Amino acid sequence: MTDIPDRDPVTGRTTTGHEWDGIRELNNPLPKWWVYTFIVTILVAVGYCVLFPAIPWLHGHTTGTLGYTARGRLDQDLSAANEAQAGMRARIAAASLEDIRRNPDLLAFAQTGGKAAFAENCAACHRAGGAGAKGFPNLADDDWLWGGKLSDIQQTVIHGIRNTDPDSRQSAMPRFGLDGMLTSGQISAVADYVLSLSTGKPLPGEGAKIFADNCVTCHGDKGQGSRDVGAPRLSDNIWLYGGDRTTVVDVITRARNSSMPAWSTRLDPVTIKMLTVYVHALGGGE
Ligand code: HEC
Ligand code: HEC
Repeated sequence: MTDIPDRDPVTGRTTTGHEWDGIRELNNPLPKWWVYTFIVTILVAVGYCVLFPAIPWLHGHTTGTLGYTARGRLDQDLSAANEAQAGMRARIAAASLEDIRRNPDLLAFAQTGGKAAFAENCAACHRAGGAGAKGFPNLADDDWLWGGKLSDIQQTVIHGIRNTDPDSRQSAMPRFGLDGMLTSGQISAVADYVLSLSTGKPLPGEGAKIFADNCVTCHGDKGQGSRDVGAPRLSDNIWLYGGDRTTVVDVITRARNSSMPAWSTRLDPVTIKMLTVYVHALGGGE
């Protein structure tokens, strides 16, 4: 082994001077571009560690001189978005529901906002798009318990139904079976009559008489329902709880009187307006 570098006769390159068993090592330096790129990546990495949060400690980590945090960035984005929306929200706050419906800009904004708020707050009960489920009315059809005008919907949403809000929608169907107002035979008969209303040929007889005596004050003489008390129309084959005989008998026996929370305590007035416009436009608005 010799330490004096000399030139390799084949390649013309110098050797490192290292030699093993007659094999000498050529001095092949790394390409310049590679070395410079390598140095640059090291500098970038050091710079990054100085500027941004990078190195973990036992409790926490270095914070970086720029003070960047992902959460802070999100807050910035959110407040920028809020600022961008503030103008539209102020216009919605000042406009009447009718005005919002007539102005394409406000309508589009309210529909989008309403849709998001609906998915977050209402879809758990009323399902996506207001399609409804057993006991939770479909909001996309033109069958309304309490009314489908903009003002009706807004009132329902603000104060809710059968809750402790003083302006909540109130009514209670009597528990005809549980409270012994009708025998089970009578309930059977009136259930058959109720089911016959949707066929267009109401059954004459005992059921009709029981209905006339006990039910027409709320459900109307032809079962057309009443919005004053949120009593469903019984003649349209659209059912809140189900149109099979067992369910109808059960509803008459123990009454359901389901409730909806008041939203004025949970949502701001602008969101409620947007929800109202959204629900109204789902398909059944009057
Ligand atoms: C906890 C379940 C629940 C949630 C959440 C809920 N609702 Fe309801 N909603 C009901 C029930 C139950 C009724 C029907 C009550 C009745 O029998 O009169 C109803 C009725 C309504 C009605 C009246 C429908 C008609 O035919 O007149 C409207 C409008 C309505 N809800 C809108 C909303 C909106 C908007 C939201 C979200 C902000 C919402 N609901 C959230 C349970 C809910
Ligand atoms: C005080 C008013 C009132 C009276 C009287 C009344 N109802 Fe009702 N009824 C209602 C209300 C309100 C509802 C909806 C309740 C709810 O949302 O839980 C309802 C719901 C129903 C339903 C369920 C409809 C559906 O779409 O699923 C049936 C069936 C029904 N009533 C039958 C009767 C019959 C039969 C009588 C007479 C024996 C009667 N009701 C008397 C108020 C009344």
